[in-house]
Amino acid sequence: MEIKLITDHREDYFEWLLLADEQKELVEAYLYQGDMWALDDAGVKTVCIVIFKDEYTCELKNLATLPSYQGKGYGKKMIQYLFSYYSSQYRYMEVGTGDSPKTIPFYEKCGFKRDHILPNFFLDHYDHLIIEDGVLLKDMIYLKKEL
Ligand SMILES: CC(C)(COP(=O)(O)OP(=O)(O)OC[C@H]1O[C@@H](n2cnc3c(N)ncnc32)[C@H](O)[C@@H]1OP(=O)(O)O)[C@@H](O)C(=O)NCCC(=O)NCCS
Repeated sequence: MEIKLITDHREDYFEWLLLADEQKELVEAYLYQGDMWALDDAGVKTVCIVIFKDEYTCELKNLATLPSYQGKGYGKKMIQYLFSYYSSQYRYMEVGTGDSPKTIPFYEKCGFKRDHILPNFFLDHYDHLIIEDGVLLKDMIYLKKEL
């Protein structure tokens, strides 16, 4: 298993990024920002982007594991690798997500804690309503981890 930086042809992973964020324009806005990472285990299984918010804080964006490989530990391995990689340069890592039972418990299991919310983010920035597990996503929940 290898976790590697993707420097060229990031658009090849666009479909993966859409698994984590359905709004194309938002993905396009940060596709070429920050670092793109891929976890490869006999083929790429998990992809994400890390952007840099300020001198202390980096932000995890669009973590996505291919559906048929979810629940096998790949997402957590990627996050643990990123905690270690960025700990020498940044004090905190943040991640923003909908208030969904599909993502919040996963990030909490990886060590993030709820920090702040952006009220109505999904209603204001998405061109359609997003319903996950029967829950309408409204606020963006930010979780944070000290590195
Ligand atoms: C969320 C996502 C990235 C998790 O990746 P993954 O590779 O499936 O997660 P892992 O297998 O590494 O899970 C790590 C741990 O979290 C737990 N976990 C994962 N999803 C969970 C959930 N919905 N509820 C509770 N626990 C969960 C796993 O059981 C595992 O626990 P363990 O360490 O005790 O074994 C993946 O489901 C995904 O790609 N979803 C679609 C895209 C998406 O929504 N991305 C997030 C955008 S904010």
